[in-house]
Order: sequence, then C-alpha cells, then structure tokens
Amino acid sequence: MCGIVGYIGEKNSLPILIEGLRRLEYRGYDSAGVALIQDKKLVLYKQAGKVQELARQIEGQQIFASLGVGHTRWATHGEPNDVNAHPHGDCNEEIAVIHNGIIENFATLKRKLERDGHIMRTDTDTEVLAHLIEHFYKTNKDLFLSTRLALLEVQGTYGLLVISKKEPDKIIAARKGSPLMLGVGKNENFVASDAAALIDHTRDVIYLNDDEIVSVSQNSYFIKTIHDKEIIKEVEKLTFDLEEIEKGGFDHFMLKEIHEQPESIRNSIRGRLLVDEGRVKLGGLERALDKLLQAPRVLITACGTSWHAALVGKYMFEQLARIPVEVDYASEFRYRNPIVRSDDVLLVISQSGETADTLAALREAKSKGATVFGMVNVVGSTIARETDAGVFIHAGPEIGVASTKAFTSQLAVLSLIAILLGRHRGMPEDQAKTLVEDLASMPSKIQKVLKNVDQIKIIAEELKNAKNVLFLGRGINFPTALEGALKLKEISYIHAEGYPAAEMKHGPIALIDENMPVIFIVPKDAIYEKVLSNMQEVRARKGRIIAIANEDDDEVEKLAEFIIKVPRTYSYFGPIVNVIPLQLLAYYIAVARGCNVDQPRNLAKSVTVE
Ligand code: G6P
Repeated sequence: MCGIVGYIGEKNSLPILIEGLRRLEYRGYDSAGVALIQDKKLVLYKQAGKVQELARQIEGQQIFASLGVGHTRWATHGEPNDVNAHPHGDCNEEIAVIHNGIIENFATLKRKLERDGHIMRTDTDTEVLAHLIEHFYKTNKDLFLSTRLALLEVQGTYGLLVISKKEPDKIIAARKGSPLMLGVGKNENFVASDAAALIDHTRDVIYLNDDEIVSVSQNSYFIKTIHDKEIIKEVEKLTFDLEEIEKGGFDHFMLKEIHEQPESIRNSIRGRLLVDEGRVKLGGLERALDKLLQAPRVLITACGTSWHAALVGKYMFEQLARIPVEVDYASEFRYRNPIVRSDDVLLVISQSGETADTLAALREAKSKGATVFGMVNVVGSTIARETDAGVFIHAGPEIGVASTKAFTSQLAVLSLIAILLGRHRGMPEDQAKTLVEDLASMPSKIQKVLKNVDQIKIIAEELKNAKNVLFLGRGINFPTALEGALKLKEISYIHAEGYPAAEMKHGPIALIDENMPVIFIVPKDAIYEKVLSNMQEVRARKGRIIAIANEDDDEVEKLAEFIIKVPRTYSYFGPIVNVIPLQLLAYYIAVARGCNVDQPRNLAKSVTVE
C-alpha cells in the first residue's frame, strides 16, 4: 500500500524516481509526488492522479537533483487530492517526508504540535511526522537523530523516507510494519518499498526489519534500531530478471500473468515431485515437518485471493491427509482472541508476504506458542522472514492487482503439501502416484484452456452489461466460485457473488430471472449430479447459465446457454484448471467495459495497513 522510492548518487534522481514509481504503482495510484534537493533548495511536485500525470506535469522543467524521494499513494487518512498527496513538509518547507503506513496516534501528536505553533496544511496522518521531526531538529540539528527521536513517539506503522535541505547529502529511511529495502549501488544508493523499483539499477539489497532506521548517503550507509543500537546487516542478491516485471507484449500485466500459468505452475512444482516414486519433497518444510505431522489440527489464515486458496487447502488436507483444518480471514483471527495451543500449527498464505492483517495473525499465533509455516511468493518479504518454516510458491513477480498466477501456484503448492502429509499418514503409494502424475500434467491442461480465448471473448461480450453475476460451485469448487466472483467484481465493478451451489436455494435464488447470469463450475466429480439439479433449478427460473464443465460432458450442454470445456483432473486439483476460464472471463468483461484492469479503482496489490 503506497510505493516509496529514494535515490542518492551521481545521476539525476528525477527519471529514476519516476520510473521507480511506475513500477511501484500497483501498490497504490490515487496520487503521486516527488521531493528533490536541487541547488540546496527543496523542490516538491505532487498531485492527485497517476504517476504518468505527475511525469507530464514535471516534463520540460530544468531539473538536476542528485537526491530525491518519490511516493505513489493509496489513501488512508484524507481524500486523494493534490494537497494530501505526499511528500509532506514541515512549517518552513525544509524537511520532506514520504510515508507508507498509518500513524495511529496522529491526532494526539497533531494537537500537541499545533499547541506548540506548528501549522498543518493537510488531512493526512503523515504530515505530523514532518512537524515532529522539525520539532526535534530545532534543538539537535541532526536529521537522523531527530527522525529517530520522532519515531519513538509514534504508534502505528511506517515505511518512511525523510530528507532535508539542511543535510542535502542523505536520505533517512525507517521501517515498522511496512516494507522497505536498501539498494546498494556503485557511487549511488537507493531505498524502495520493493525490489521492482531497484532491479533496473542494482541486485544488491538489504532488507530492513521493523524498528530499524538507516542513514543513506551516496557511498555509505549506517543502520541502527530506533532505540539506538547499531546493526550490521548482510547484503543479499535479487534473483529475478527485469523482463519478469515487464508486460512482454501483452496489453495488461493481468493477461500476461494469466498466460504465464503453465510456466508458473511448472516452477512451483519443479524439483518437488518425484513422479516415479509417487513422492513429494519440500525442503523448506522439512525442518519443522514433525510439528506439522503431530499437530492436532492445522489453522490456515490469509486475505483476499490467498484466503480462497486457503479454503481449497482445507479440502485437500482434510481429504488427502485426514488432518482437521480451520480457515480464518487473517483480519478476523487476531481480534477474536483465537484459541491457539502450542502444538497447533498455523499456515499463513500470502502472495506479497507483506499483508498487514496476515502478518498480525502470524505474530498472534507465534506469541501463543504455535509453530508458523508460510506459503509466500516474494522472497525476502516480512512474512517469509518471520515464519518458522515454509515453502515459496515461485510464481515469479505478480504485478496485476487482481491475483491470478499466484493463486494457481498456491493451489499447486497446497496440493504438494497435502500429498506429502498424506504419504506420512498412510496414503497408499498407488494413489500417491496417480496424484503426482496428475499434478505434473497441470501445465499442459492449463495450456489447453488458454487456447479457448476466442470463445471466452464471445461470452464476455454477452455478459458485459450484466448488473449482477452469481458464481456457483460445490465442494472444492465452492472456493473456485468465490474466486471467480472476486475476480469479476475487482476489475469490472460488476456485483458478483460466489455461493455453494446447493445453498443458492436459501437466498440467491430469489434474484434469478432472465437477466441474471449464473456461472456454474460443474466438473464430473462425486457431486456432479447434484450440481446438475441446481442447474435445473436456475433454468426453471429462466436464469442464464454459463457452465465450466469437463471435455467429456454432454449433459451440461442441454442446460447451459454457454459452456466452456476444461480437461478433467483428479477432483482435488480441479480448481487449478477450473479457475482459468473465470480469470479470462473477468479480464475480457473488464476490457469490454473499458476498465483499468491492472489498476482497479480503490484497490492495491499489497495491503500493508490494517
Ligand atoms: C489485496 C490484493 C489481492 C490479494 C490480497 C492478499 O487485496 O489486491 O489480490 O489476494 O491483497 O494479498 P497477499 O499478498 O497477502 O496474498
């Protein structure tokens, strides 16, 4: 939530900041701004709207500033207008601050500072930081120290950059709860919310931890905790390539990422499936595997699409390994004083590894003595670093705000864990072999579905003016229905709901008439006949039926207006294939409605506030 980038070095910082902000824009895009130090003067440009509009505003200005910071915002406090856009300054416009997070005690701090004569100009929580730092600077004349002292008074979360025209040779950066990393270059250094803004310039990075503060100059840096303890940290290497975060000829990141799924799943399972032996190998889990095998139950927690993956995981673990599983929204977990015992294990699922609610749930379970496993995409992310053990999904960078390839990779890795646990708990070798072979065939099955794009475009044209869409599935495809509905509402703004197909008759059936599209996920599994009956119920009320069904199905055709055929899989892996047409449908409907697919309104890729 909010993207932050800073540069200090021999080059002109402005183009580096603008390009960095473009790459971070998926984190928030309702306003953008930069602060630069040029000829010992602090220069600010900021406005509501996208980074591109900011770039247009600055274009043509004679700027050369070897130090600058930039911000792209996802509003929390104060509407997204020009004034509330970051950076924010102190009373004398000497200090500039950009911030990702929430200052929870900002109202108290603001009252105190205003009583001391500070004049606030914005509705944001961030502005108080600039004034608080100014307050300390008056007496000690040291930007690092003033920022550190200010942060000791702050409650809340921050990824923070501070610059001052009085000390034009440094950027002060600090982190608590919001991601921040240092990029180490030659005669230049960088700070950013994530690696996407750095990869163009350096592969050497230092991940900051909570309560750490760093002073970054052109050729050096030093790190302390905000409690004044010196810290030495290792420089780590970024391992992904620039082209992985480019669109590669597709119109949108989301479409590229949908099409990458055969490859991303291949990467998720590579080296982990021993097909001939019907076995799974997951190095990252091994150091705490005993805990997982002895646990009386598994708790899984996540948000958004990752929560849907967690629901699928429940079906897989319970059916294939006979381990009881409870799934919680991470945002609910912490606040209901959950019953967590020391022999419980918690699995947290997060694409970004930075979602604030998921991180809070992780810490809650840890504080109660549980062992915490992570399933994360972004290597080096906070969740990845705070879990006791875990598995990376290796889906590659996901930029589109609506998650696609991370979801299917999460499902692939959940399948691997379910087989691994199943084998340890008595799953026969023959069954394991069938499962492992089926999982290995997922990339080619998805490839087949992706060839169906033309038919999906036709259906999208038919549905683009719908006001509501219902998604129905049963068993393990109930979460698939939830995910299909989420994709559609996120990017096309059509109201959509996912429901267990049989539950429809307890409410949503009242909505069904000839204008109501109902999308059924109806693979040939144990409850196929039951779902056909639910289809009959919709048809009897003249609802428009669109069905995702198996290639060898000839019953569904009699009931559905449109049918999208997908290859058969072992039923527990069905969602991996069945969700693909739903992603494509949401995408083409959104495009047909002229929506901004990669940056849907009000959303952000990485939600680092509660
Ligand atoms: C945001 C994103 C979703 C994502 C959710 C959880 O809402 O827009 O796509 O599923 O956060 O994110 P995580 O990174 O924890 O999986």
